[in-house]
Amino acid sequence: MMREQSRMQAVQSPIIPVVGELIRQHPGTISLGQGVVYYSPPPEVERSLSEFFTNPENHKYKSVQGIPPLRQAIAAKLLAENGIAIARDNCVVVTAGSNMAFMNAVLAMTRPGDELILLAPYYFNHEMAIAIAGCRAVVVATDENYQPRPDAIAAAITDRTRAVVTISPNNPTGTVYSEATLQQLNSLCRDRGLYHISDEAYEYFTYEGARHVSPGSFANSSEHTISLYSLSKAYGFASWRIGYMVIPQHLLTAVKKVQDTILICPPVISQYAAWGALQAGRAYCTHHLSAIASARQIVLNALGSLGDRCTFTPADGAFYAFVKANTSLSSFDLVKYLIEEHGVAAIPGDTFGLEEGCYLRVAYGALSEETAATGIERLVRGMRSLSSPTL
Ligand SMILES: Cc1ncc(COP(=O)(O)O)c(C=O)c1O
Repeated sequence: MMREQSRMQAVQSPIIPVVGELIRQHPGTISLGQGVVYYSPPPEVERSLSEFFTNPENHKYKSVQGIPPLRQAIAAKLLAENGIAIARDNCVVVTAGSNMAFMNAVLAMTRPGDELILLAPYYFNHEMAIAIAGCRAVVVATDENYQPRPDAIAAAITDRTRAVVTISPNNPTGTVYSEATLQQLNSLCRDRGLYHISDEAYEYFTYEGARHVSPGSFANSSEHTISLYSLSKAYGFASWRIGYMVIPQHLLTAVKKVQDTILICPPVISQYAAWGALQAGRAYCTHHLSAIASARQIVLNALGSLGDRCTFTPADGAFYAFVKANTSLSSFDLVKYLIEEHGVAAIPGDTFGLEEGCYLRVAYGALSEETAATGIERLVRGMRSLSSPTL
């Protein structure tokens, strides 16, 4: 008999495949579930892929840290757009998506039993990575607008704390943190000898004049700040699996050990594709953003029409609305009901660490305006049909 015990038993199951299976069982369901965009990578990718095939050496293992031309393009982008200069005390590591970058960071900086502070609602894969590393996620609630509470974060620090994790623009709430808040948290980490892990997967996705800020650009931040980026959202690149991280130089040896063991190197063909995507640059994403902004407006208007049946913060970033439904149903039961009876899917809030109350994450990045309108109509109809405890 094989033993069934493993560290993975303590790790939550990813919810996206569970909701995906429910969707498959109910054909015609519109998914407001997965966090992906509606567009494909830019044409520059095809050119760089042709270049990949011109050199047979490209079929061999390459640098653990990423191919030099891609790292150079990333360094130029970081300087121009994020205000992060790659110098002697920090460096870039290309990863197989920014989830891998987070795992690299956690494994590189912790011992089993160490703690990392996550803000609730959190991104579920962060919590899972921490559990897989044998560490503990210490979850600190955000305020009523899903903004960080620096005093509560400071109070949660113990001798075992290694890092504070922020995501701005945020998954699942869509909130964008102000420069002042990020500055305060980054200084707190420096003063208390902690790392600040800043997940910036949605850096280009802001609306209504909201501004994304990179903590890695703050003065005296490079020794303790880890900045994570992804091409998945910005370039419609999710399946290519390319992200990157900026780390303090002193973590490089440890990160390379992790990456060498798990990946050896990020797939080189995907790195070529990423190099092509970066040549198209931010403008490629900006060009597609207006359609996502329209879908966002449709979603916010429709949610607003539900009055007391739900509460939500009209957040200015990413492509999510995080909705609290005024019902006694559990989050998962509400999601199941919406799929089975109304043909629309969202992600249940308990996945993001909210045990109390009924929350849904509504994603609108993958939708055309028309599908967004139909999907959200179905959601609104479903929510209206609920008998709510306080109405
Ligand atoms: C906050 C955040 N970080 C990281 C990721 C994963 O990005 P990647 O595809 O680069 O692994 C996601 C994907 O949804 C995300 O929401």
